[in-house]
Formats: sequence, structure tokens, C-alpha cells
Amino acid sequence: MKKINIAIDGFSSTGKSTLARQLADKLGYTYVDSGAMYRAITFYFIQHHIDLHSNNDVAEALNQIHLTFQDNIICLNGMPIESEIRGMEISSKVSEVAALEAVRIFAVRQQQMMGAQKGVVMDGRDIGTTVFPDAELKIFLTANESVRSQRRYDELKDKQSDISLEDIQSNLKHRDHIDSTREHSPLRKAHDAVELDNTHYSMSEQLDIAYQWAMECINRTN
Ligand code: DC
Repeated sequence: MKKINIAIDGFSSTGKSTLARQLADKLGYTYVDSGAMYRAITFYFIQHHIDLHSNNDVAEALNQIHLTFQDNIICLNGMPIESEIRGMEISSKVSEVAALEAVRIFAVRQQQMMGAQKGVVMDGRDIGTTVFPDAELKIFLTANESVRSQRRYDELKDKQSDISLEDIQSNLKHRDHIDSTREHSPLRKAHDAVELDNTHYSMSEQLDIAYQWAMECINRTN
């Protein structure tokens, strides 16, 4: 059975990672959370006080960064950093870091290598447009804004008790704006992507729809 690549893009907190992980599990494919890579880079930049306006500093920092995934957990130079990258500090800076051309070239190259053998479900913002423009299945996930903010709030409130729904809402707006207006591979629905609005779907309903689309593509490919 020939494998395909599946790109899942969309605005922040539309549930891309959940869908991508579940779909990869169900198909026996590899799941790659491309946002975690940008978050890990941001974590390194903050820790090392990298000046985002200095091309030299950014290039030197990227030379020191080695990203891997172990059991779907992002590792920065061998260290798992999942919990460190999910808080608001990283969320408030990651879009600025991800907008830098050198950072995008660095991340996209690795993402393309991960998908070279096919059998990958990758979620992000530019997967269907830039990383895998020839992915066999491209899903553009949407959900209404208040549902997205509430989902992110529910996810974070136990870990970060000082967080408010308003903070989340403004962070999502801020990131959506930067992610979709930046110069280098902005968030955009690929012309051949299928849109899935999950505002009124449960996780298992959205998985059923995506799985059916994936199986149709796999059958067409074989
Ligand atoms: O999916 P996420 O919220 O964890 O992603 C964090 C940030 O990384 C997001 O605000 C924009 C950036 N990103 C990107 O520019 N391109 C991707 N393919 C994935 C994420």
C-alpha cells in the first residue's frame, strides 16, 4: 500500500494537533507537530537572549539548534521540552520568531525531509502551501473564534492558574494576524485544500470525516 502525506493547516487553536495526532494513529502514519518546532526555536531564542533584528545572531543560534521528536515529544538538543513550550510566554513570542525568513528556511527544510518517504500527517500554517505543496490530502481546519478561545482556555487553565479567557482571546487574535500577514509563507488555505469547520463537531466526528477523506486519497493513489 503506497502511503500519502497529509497536510493540516489553520488558525491557532482550531484543533489541528489533536486531529493530526489521531489521524496519524488511525492510519499508522507519523505525526509531526510543526508548531512545536517553532515553539522550541522560540524557547531557545528567549533562553539565549537572541536579538531577532540581528541576522547574525539568529543564524548563529539556529546553528546550535538540533530538533528531534521522541514519541511525538519535541526535543531541543536532546532534551524533551514539551511543558516549557506551551505557556503564554512562548505563545506571545512565537509568531514573531516564526515570521523570520532564516527560521522558516531552517524549519521547512527539516519538515520536508521528514515527509520525503511519505506516511506523514503534519499540522501547521504553511504545510499545504509551502512544506508539502504536493501533499495528496490537504485539510484546512476552521472553527469559530469564541469556541477556539474557550478550547485553549480549558487546555491551559489547570497548568496556568493566572490565565484569563481575555488573555487567550487577544493572544489568538495577535498570532492569527501575524501568521496570516507575514511576508514569508503566510497562513493561507491552499487552492486544493478541503475545508473542515469543526465548530459543531466532536473530536470523533471530525476524525471520522478526515479519515474518510484520507482513505479515499489512499485508494486513489494505489
Ligand atoms: O500550532 P501552534 O499554535 O503550536 O504554532 C505556534 C506558532 O508557530 C504559530 O503561532 C505560528 C507558527 N507556525 C508557523 O508559522 N508555521 C507552521 N507550520 C506552524 C506554526
